[in-house]
Amino acid sequence: MATVFVSGTLPGASPARLAELHHVVQDEAGIRSAAFEACRDSVEGIVALLTDRIDGTLLDSAPRLKIVANVAVGVDNVDLAACAARVVVVTNTPDVLTEATADMAFGLLIAAARRIAEGDRLVRSGGFTGWTPTFMLGTRVHGMTLGIVGMGRIGQALARRARGFGMHVLYNQRTRLPEPLERALGATYTQSLDEMLAWADAVSIHCPLTPETRHLFSRERLGRMKEGSILVNTARGPIVDEAALADVLEHGPLSAAGLDVFEEEPTVHPALLARPNAVLAPHIGSADRVTREAMAATAIANVLRVLGGEPALTPVAP
Ligand code: DGY
Repeated sequence: MATVFVSGTLPGASPARLAELHHVVQDEAGIRSAAFEACRDSVEGIVALLTDRIDGTLLDSAPRLKIVANVAVGVDNVDLAACAARVVVVTNTPDVLTEATADMAFGLLIAAARRIAEGDRLVRSGGFTGWTPTFMLGTRVHGMTLGIVGMGRIGQALARRARGFGMHVLYNQRTRLPEPLERALGATYTQSLDEMLAWADAVSIHCPLTPETRHLFSRERLGRMKEGSILVNTARGPIVDEAALADVLEHGPLSAAGLDVFEEEPTVHPALLARPNAVLAPHIGSADRVTREAMAATAIANVLRVLGGEPALTPVAP
């Protein structure tokens, strides 16, 4: 029986299975908690959340650690090189959250384009005084040109949704997809991100957060986006310069944004909070019950396998 630290409460039946087989220490406060401090000498597995920062100092404080199972597909909270140097396996939860996250991106796109959150606030505040032909006009969603930044699993799932809305899909990433896959997705590759931004009525971000993608959407780049366009971010907040985004939402060229992630979660930049044309969600891209249970099950399966001497199901390469 090994000691496994579980950061927070996980949904579904898999946490009970883990507790049958191992000594589980759990704390909502995560790895900076007194509970972790008390078990760090013996801990062999950590089920980590994206809010836990796993760095060299933390790893050095847990000499018996074999696996960090992140309950997320993104692993920007984990120092992968530091884990590799200490032979600690890192796993994530790909695939199981693809459709949920694409649903969220599409939902934010429609909500931002058609001003749904703004309309909800207006109705609740008693500001709805009747239908008029020019009242709350938004952007047409059907048939728009959608630019996807990062055409991995989630980007592709979004492209499939876009086809149903008659959209013209462009995408940009380092490597072009094989042609048959491009054809199946109905997606056109653009050599440069800026070329894509010049054409796209809406842009959805689906790349990981890395040193290269931090502030990929800088003030300059946001300023070069198409007049009236919409930005959707369900990936990671720091990919977008939040203060600059608030500015282009106020002064153009953007007409709206749909955001599920923020630079300094759970804090949101006050200038963004003040923008009525920003739809803001509290990082719930994967938050449907089925998906979250599957994420927990994947993380726990990885822990059980690695502690049992088997290869992880979904390892992340450094
Ligand atoms: C992830 O998996 O990286 C998501 O942000 C969690 O919803």
